[in-house]
Amino acid sequence: MKYLMILAASLIGTQAFAAGETVEINPPAEGSISTEDALAAWDRIYEVASHPRCSNCHVGPSNLPMWSGPSYGKARPHGMNINAGESRVGAEFVQCSTCHAYREIATGDRLEHSAPQVAMDWRLAPVEAEWFGKSSVEVCNQLRNPELNGDRDYLAIASHLDHDLILHWAWNPGAGREPAPYSLQEHVNDVLAWGVGGMPCAND
Ligand code: HEC
Ligand code: HEC
Repeated sequence: MKYLMILAASLIGTQAFAAGETVEINPPAEGSISTEDALAAWDRIYEVASHPRCSNCHVGPSNLPMWSGPSYGKARPHGMNINAGESRVGAEFVQCSTCHAYREIATGDRLEHSAPQVAMDWRLAPVEAEWFGKSSVEVCNQLRNPELNGDRDYLAIASHLDHDLILHWAWNPGAGREPAPYSLQEHVNDVLAWGVGGMPCAND
């Protein structure tokens, strides 16, 4: 079932991003990335991961999505008492999809301060993927740990980035919101370089 959902999402993804937004997954040759280069790639990965367009959903056991970044002023939990609950989709309270409705073609949000809508179910990231407010070393150790990263190696992380349409939105968030830094392709390249370089973290 999960496989089918991912398949469906990637088919829709191809359609919605036919205009040159598809991502190539070409890892550098084994042995071509030094630890130093891999750590530099990690620094850029962390700039993305800690950016509000990513970290607002990558929150921990509070189950509270965040509103942070220049368009929100001061960082604070999502307004209107939104709580995602353990379901991470608000099933226990108000479902995220009430406002973050599925949109067939994700074009970026048209109106400032409207609820983001993408061609995928809007939900909080798993509690193990808590990034909000965490340091570079903490997020690095989480993301290389299969027990905390959804049991993915670096190639699987890179292809997840390609298939996840929420991620595509983060680089094309539309009215009033800053996009995540670099580009999706550059981010995927950095994940591949970090992986080929042995997934080092600064505390090794
Ligand atoms: C709307 C909320 C939301 C936003 C915004 C979001 N994510 Fe996620 N993220 C998720 C969900 C849900 C999952 C779990 C998906 C799965 O496992 O299939 C996830 C999983 C991941 C994973 C898999 C590894 C792990 O630890 O579980 C990575 C990597 C990731 N996201 C990166 C990003 C990046 C990079 C951005 C910003 C460019 C981002 N996410 C923005 C909700 C979000
Ligand atoms: C009552 C409507 C409503 C519901 C229900 C709702 N949201 Fe939102 N959400 C919004 C609006 C509106 C915004 C944008 C506010 C703004 O830009 O000032 C938003 C923004 C967000 C953002 C920030 C996106 C960004 O980086 O700019 C996240 C994360 C988010 N919602 C997650 C969730 C999650 C997870 C759920 C379900 C647990 C949820 N929301 C339920 C209306 C809603």
